[in-house]
Amino acid sequence: MCGISLRPGLVKPCRLVKPMSVTILPERSSHHQDNLPKLPVPPLRQTFERYLLMLEPLLSEEEMDHTRKLVKEFLIPEGVGDRLQRSLERRASNKENWLTEWWMQSAYLDSRMPVAVYSSPGVVLPRMTFQDRQGQMRFAAKLISGVLDFKQMIDNETLPIEYLGGKPLCMDQYYQILSSCRIPGPKRDTVVNHAIGKVAPTHITVVHNFQFFVLDVYNSDGSPLTVDQIYMQLEKIWNSSLQSNKEPIGILTSQHRNTWGKAYNNLIKDKTNKESVRAIQKSIFTVCLDAPMPQMSEQRYQSRVAAQMLHGGGSRWNSGNRWFDKTLQFIVGEDGTCGLVYEHAPAEGPPIVFLVDYLVEYMMEVVRAPMIPLPMPPKLRFNITPEVKKDIESAKQNMNIMSHDLDVNVVYFADYGRNVPKAHKMSPDAFIQMALQLAYFRMYQMCCSTYESASLRMFALGRTDTIRSCSNESLKFVQAMEDLAKPNTEKVSLLDKACQAHVEYTRMAIHGQAIDRHLLGLKLQAIEELTSMPEIFMDTAYAVAEHPNLSTSQAGAKTDCVMCFGPLVPDGYGVCYNPMADHINIAITAFNSCEETHAANFGRAMKKALRDMRSLLEETAKAKQ
Ligand code: COA
Repeated sequence: MCGISLRPGLVKPCRLVKPMSVTILPERSSHHQDNLPKLPVPPLRQTFERYLLMLEPLLSEEEMDHTRKLVKEFLIPEGVGDRLQRSLERRASNKENWLTEWWMQSAYLDSRMPVAVYSSPGVVLPRMTFQDRQGQMRFAAKLISGVLDFKQMIDNETLPIEYLGGKPLCMDQYYQILSSCRIPGPKRDTVVNHAIGKVAPTHITVVHNFQFFVLDVYNSDGSPLTVDQIYMQLEKIWNSSLQSNKEPIGILTSQHRNTWGKAYNNLIKDKTNKESVRAIQKSIFTVCLDAPMPQMSEQRYQSRVAAQMLHGGGSRWNSGNRWFDKTLQFIVGEDGTCGLVYEHAPAEGPPIVFLVDYLVEYMMEVVRAPMIPLPMPPKLRFNITPEVKKDIESAKQNMNIMSHDLDVNVVYFADYGRNVPKAHKMSPDAFIQMALQLAYFRMYQMCCSTYESASLRMFALGRTDTIRSCSNESLKFVQAMEDLAKPNTEKVSLLDKACQAHVEYTRMAIHGQAIDRHLLGLKLQAIEELTSMPEIFMDTAYAVAEHPNLSTSQAGAKTDCVMCFGPLVPDGYGVCYNPMADHINIAITAFNSCEETHAANFGRAMKKALRDMRSLLEETAKAKQ
């Protein structure tokens, strides 16, 4: 899935991988990491040639002429372009990865928007049916035990190494997701990873009814608590947090980052508060035991859960039952809701989805062990001064505005999955991307700048680059689909060409030759060493390219789940999909404050596009027989 496959690189058998006919190699991750290639800086002229091509379907001829002129000026031999390129190449030779630090800062840590909705993705897991509260606690206990089991592989460096296109991938992100937390700063946030400190944390935090508890998950001999032990501790936590009139301190973390930064300094002025905050930040991960949410029709249920994962449902519901800065927060609701939300700065979706697959498999096993009584998990105390109270009230108001503004629609597309495009010898990912292009074109009679994440993990410390799914080829295909006069054979041929162009861009992107991060690098280099910004970065064309109305990603999992995230721009859509073998889960988000966007309408357009594309292929194949 995600094109990413596993090869066991383990010194012990692992539940993760289905039995495969490959030898289990004792290959430790750190050796593997040292041998990964460095991310290249693509050739300057190649990037600008591709930049112009990418812009063609988005701009008028007149606008294109203007941009071509600016590109020509930028590329004058020994001009600004060459100078910046040389600096970038120097940077690349001096760093393990020339991009990663810049990317982490510019995409995440510099952003002042709230992490909830605007940055942190959620994952919706299949609904559970808990007979009673004990059922919920048992499920949460098993889940915690599963994460600890997974952590053991991280601690021992025995994670199975993933592969993409036959090449081993960088596993560093797995080392960033546990025991880490984002911390707000006045201009830029930071991320601290306590796993690499002198004393690795041994506790998780559990939050119920807005009250945080420290749950030590290891015995004094270093062995992890058993499921039964964790269950008993969760019971104690539950029983001592029944009062629901507590201040939702965690909601502070959902604020605009500058606002939260100020509130944070305010909060930690008090010694008790500071210690409580530190305990959350240092914890291995957080488990949110959520209160039941309003009942919904079966049809709306998944969309409601996606919203719950992204923001908690508002201050009346579970938004205060979070610490949004925490890298990993698992959510288990009394009503059977389950999933997670993760702070995006340290890692991409694939490691998270991989962990989810692991947990689902782990939780199928029943683990029982003798009970050893344990002390009550300590509750974290917060002194709510009038100033902190004011900050909480303001955070509640903003969260309510934000949660009302997010329009979420989860589509369970049951007609087919990866099987159909594969049977027609097309890449499923390219096929779904073309359906997105068609859906958008039908709704707006135009195409738009489109972002699809591509993994750069073939390279040491690699994160992502962008696949530009809107191309000249995709435009020709969607235009043909809307042209009644065009014969089906021509439409199929254009679909095939559009998919091939997409596959080619994907191949280029995962090999470090896409344009977006290179352009970002040149721009950041210009900020570092020039007195004025080169005109190509001030051009409207660049602004159009940098305004992806469709922000998309494949997050493929074995589990029947779906990842979701908010749109990147106020008038855009966030679309994340999990193409299973015979169906596709798609999560679509938009903002209600934008009159032009509508997640449910886009979902309908998407289903119709997928159906029409399948009919097109099948009718054309039949006609040929
Ligand atoms: N004919 C038949 N089968 C084909 C085919 C064709 N022409 N082209 C591809 N396939 C098959 C593949 O072999 C693969 O088979 P599998 O299911 O047995 O593994 C399957 O179809 C899927 O391939 P495809 O749909 O082309 O996409 P992909 O799985 O290679 O994924 C990306 C493409 C871009 C998603 C992936 O490269 C990537 O970068 N993933 C990471 C994304 C990421 O980081 N997201 C961040 C989320 S926050």
